[in-house]
Amino acid sequence: MRSYEKKYQRYRSLIDQKIHSCVRKHEPVSLYEPMKYVLSAGGKRMRPLLIVLSCEAVGGTMNEAMNAAVAIEVLHNFTLVHDDIMDNAESRRGRATVHKRWDSNVAILVGDELVALAYRELLRTKSKAIAQVADVFTEGVVEVCEGQAYDKEFEMLHDVSIDDYLLMIAKKTGKLFSVSSEIGGLIGEGTDREIRALRSFGTYIGRAFQIQDDLLDVIADEKEFGKMIGGDIIEGKKTFLLIKAYERAQGKDKKLINSIIRNKGTQKKNIPLVKEIYERYDILQLAKQSIEKDIRQANLQLEKLRDTSAREMLFWFSNMVLNRQF
Ligand code: IPE
Ligand code: IPE
Ligand code: MG
Ligand code: MG
Ligand code: MG
Repeated sequence: MRSYEKKYQRYRSLIDQKIHSCVRKHEPVSLYEPMKYVLSAGGKRMRPLLIVLSCEAVGGTMNEAMNAAVAIEVLHNFTLVHDDIMDNAESRRGRATVHKRWDSNVAILVGDELVALAYRELLRTKSKAIAQVADVFTEGVVEVCEGQAYDKEFEMLHDVSIDDYLLMIAKKTGKLFSVSSEIGGLIGEGTDREIRALRSFGTYIGRAFQIQDDLLDVIADEKEFGKMIGGDIIEGKKTFLLIKAYERAQGKDKKLINSIIRNKGTQKKNIPLVKEIYERYDILQLAKQSIEKDIRQANLQLEKLRDTSAREMLFWFSNMVLNRQF
C-alpha cells in the first residue's frame, strides 16, 4: 500500500507540472491570474489518476494517457469554478473561491477558457481511438451540465426521491469518473469487455465519491476539507443525508428537516442541530454503508481485468475513495 501512495504522489506531481504548462500566457491579467490561481490550488487529481491507471490496466502507458489526463482535470476545474458560483461557495481547496476573490464575471470567463484548454489538451492525444475518446469526453461535459441543472432544480423541489438523487449525482459527479476510466481503457486499446468493466468501475466509484462528499460536508475537518462545513445544509441541497433524514425523522426533528426543504436552506446556526439529527437517526451510518456497497461493486468490476500492478493500484484507488477525509 505504501508504494502505491508513493506512486500516486509521483503521478500527481507529474500531472501538476503538465497542468501548469497548459497556461503560459500572462495577459489579460484579469483572465490569467485567476486561471493560474485555480490550476495551482492543489486538488487530489483523482480523475487524471483514474485515466492513467485505466490505460495501464489494459496494457497502455502513462505517457499515452497524459494529454487526456490533463484534459479531464482542467475540465473538472472548470466545473468547480462554475459550481462555486451556483452554490454560493466561499472557499475551495482552502482558499477563497474565484468569484469571491474576484467576481462572478471573472469566474464565468475563467471557466469558459478552461473548457477550451481541456479540449486543446485532449485533442493532442495520439490514439487510434481519438474520435471515440472525444465523443466520450463531450458526452461527459453534457451530462455534468444536466446533473448540475438537476442539482439546482432540486433545491426548489419538496419531493426529491433517492432515485432522483442518484440520477442527479450520476450525472454531475459519476459521469466524469466513468468518462475517465473509459477514456483510459480506450487509449490503452483495451478489449470491449475490459472497457465496459472500467466504465462500470468509474460509475460506482463516482457514486461513492459524491455520497462521501455529501457526508464530508457534515463530518469533515473544515481546514482539511478546504470547503465550508455545512454548506449543503445552508443551501438546502438535496443530499443523500437530507433525503434520508426526511424519510426517517419524527416530531420536531422532522419539522426542522422539513423547514430546510420548504425554505430552500437554513441559517448557519442550525448546522449543529441538523448534524445531531443525522447522528441520532443513523443517517451518517447509512451513507457510509451505501458508499461501502458501491466500493464493493466497483471492486467486482476489477476482477474482470487482467492481474497487473495497475489493477492492484485501482483497488488501492477504491480504498482511497472509501477512506478519504477531504
Ligand atoms: C469536488 O471534487 C467536486 C465533487 C465532485 C464532489 P474533488 O473532491 O475531486 O475536488 P479536488 O479536485 O480534489 O479539489
Ligand atoms: C459537485 O457537487 C459537482 C460538480 C462540481 C460538477 P458539489 O457542489 O457537492 O461539489 P463541492 O462540494 O462544491 O466540491
Ligand atoms: Mg454543487
Ligand atoms: Mg458545490
Ligand atoms: Mg459537495
